[in-house]
Amino acid sequence: MQLSKRLGAIASLVPEGAKLVDVGTDHGYIPIYLTKNHKASYCIASDINKGPLESAKRNRDKYQLSGIELRQGSGLQTIKLEDRMDTVVIAGMGGYLVHDILELDLVLVKTMRTLILQPQNNIPEIRRYVHSIGFKIAREVFLEEEGKYYTIIVAVPGVESYVKPCHYEYGQYLLEEGSDLYKRWLQHKQKGYADIITKLQTLEGNQTAERMSELQQANELIEEALKCMH
Ligand SMILES: C[S@@+](CC[C@H](N)C(=O)[O-])C[C@H]1O[C@@H](n2cnc3c(N)ncnc32)[C@H](O)[C@@H]1O
Repeated sequence: MQLSKRLGAIASLVPEGAKLVDVGTDHGYIPIYLTKNHKASYCIASDINKGPLESAKRNRDKYQLSGIELRQGSGLQTIKLEDRMDTVVIAGMGGYLVHDILELDLVLVKTMRTLILQPQNNIPEIRRYVHSIGFKIAREVFLEEEGKYYTIIVAVPGVESYVKPCHYEYGQYLLEEGSDLYKRWLQHKQKGYADIITKLQTLEGNQTAERMSELQQANELIEEALKCMH
């Protein structure tokens, strides 16, 4: 089976022999791929909705895979400490939902060896949050697929905090890695800010001044981030 670029990147970050929980598994592709390729030793494919789990079951049965258990429920509520899982994937969901899922089961989360998180938005908040719960960011992957951009965060137990605000906003790992794709994306974003600032300069009013100050701050942050890349 062939995974999409985004799901393939997530699967490639799963440690060999992982006991993996895929929260919000939907189609179940990640557990299926990892089990089929003998990368995970055991998987729980979990989803809050019945429809996605039925689709995951059909896909699992099609490949005749044992070693993937399906559970229905919200977030990590389907997992017990006795399951002794060591890796969590939460992908394709909003940042606040990712945060709430981790926060609700912190005791369990803190027993994990690896968290692989791909929030669709609010990525800086997730970086801050994983640091606040005793995880460090071991790696990040930034990728483009069909015109959309995705960030995957791999967190492992450890103490870490970033000194520069731009490291939370844009990811210390990604800035240090300095890929051409990421640089182009940052430059494009910066141009977007600059264009709006130019337009706002022709307008007047309190609201405009407030928005202008926000944009100038955002612009400074992105400039700082781009400097970190050199
Ligand atoms: C957009 S899909 C993402 C599927 C897959 N993880 C991916 O990245 O392609 C979101 C999935 O999360 C499930 N979901 C939404 N809220 C959830 C929650 N609180 N707990 C577990 N699953 C949830 C939905 O039913 C849906 O199957």
